[in-house]
Amino acid sequence: MATPTLHVFHMNGGEGDTSYAKNCAIQSKVLSITRPFVEEAIQDYINKDFSVDTITIAELGCSSGPTALEAVTTIMDVIESRRQRAKLMVYLVDLPGNDFNKVFTFIPSLQRRLREEKGVDFGPCFIAGLPGNFYGRLLPNNSLQFVHCSSSLNWLSQVPLGLEGKDDPKMLNKGKVYLSVTSPGHVIDAYRLQFRKDFTTFLKCRSEEMVLGGRMVLSFMGRRSIDHTFEEDYYPMEFIAQALMTMVSQGRLKEEKVDSFNAPFYAPHHEEVKNLIEEESSFYVDRFEAIEVEWAGGKFNLNDPRLTRGATMAKMQRAVLESMLEHHFGEDIIDELFLRYAKTWEDHLLFDESPTFINLVISLTRM
Ligand SMILES: C[S@@+](CC[C@H](N)C(=O)[O-])C[C@H]1O[C@@H](n2cnc3c(N)ncnc32)[C@H](O)[C@@H]1O
Repeated sequence: MATPTLHVFHMNGGEGDTSYAKNCAIQSKVLSITRPFVEEAIQDYINKDFSVDTITIAELGCSSGPTALEAVTTIMDVIESRRQRAKLMVYLVDLPGNDFNKVFTFIPSLQRRLREEKGVDFGPCFIAGLPGNFYGRLLPNNSLQFVHCSSSLNWLSQVPLGLEGKDDPKMLNKGKVYLSVTSPGHVIDAYRLQFRKDFTTFLKCRSEEMVLGGRMVLSFMGRRSIDHTFEEDYYPMEFIAQALMTMVSQGRLKEEKVDSFNAPFYAPHHEEVKNLIEEESSFYVDRFEAIEVEWAGGKFNLNDPRLTRGATMAKMQRAVLESMLEHHFGEDIIDELFLRYAKTWEDHLLFDESPTFINLVISLTRM
């Protein structure tokens, strides 16, 4: 069976113990770090077009957690602090398998907060769900003033072709589920080219949908070394591969099953992203930063202080990866896999107290 793509991929829905809504602490942390970028971009936009009547916003890859409305709330706060009267039209966009019902349940509390905390009626905010693929067109030409997309652009439109090694054995990504420091050059190239194609398509589609001068803030995981030599860049997926291969060694799984699974994921180096934005040439880069974020620091354990840090890491990754892993390996192995995954993180955290990842934040203007 081929590795899954967009039609099976979704974050865990609902509000149960393994749901995305309950396990999005790390994405929430990223959003608080990137909030100043959103504030700055919307302020700039209003400065240039103070008389704007309606600001249409797309929140791309909104998912089904409380994080879906973070950027919208920031934008409302800025508009309110400026005593602006603009109305907001917000499209919450995600793949059709997303639990939109869950995300809609967060809207009343946002409206309540606005009424109670602000005590002002500064104009209506219309919110709609839009099932769609952000690697294609979502809205009419020149219809968007603001685009926000956080922790989502790492997900490719498909697994790079050929990684099962059927046509070319050099392409086999043996014992791995993503890139690693030992990946063969052909596998690295396949991932790099898929990201190049997807990210360029994304920029092209947004350039058609956005008005001139419109603003876009993108934030997603990056990596430190351009040549894939920095081990820490690969921990989360590498530890999944390790847990799966332990199950292979104990006869719980067939090795070919692991070899034929590859995640449609890519964390680019900032130079790759800069070059692609320049090549596509529809956007001016206002600000671009690579920020180091601690996996296990700050608000990390808030969702359940009784859990070990390893178990918390496992729950956060499970909320994101379960649909894909279950589709390929079957649901019977999922509990065991994530118990092993938690243990791998715990062992690792004994000698590496504060592992980090790189988050790229890019603020762009449509030109
Ligand atoms: C890790 S979640 C991030 C959710 C949210 N932005 C946050 O910061 O918490 C990534 C989301 O991107 C969505 N996604 C991935 N690829 C997509 C695509 N091609 N089109 C639309 N949504 C996509 C996934 O379904 C998922 O809900």
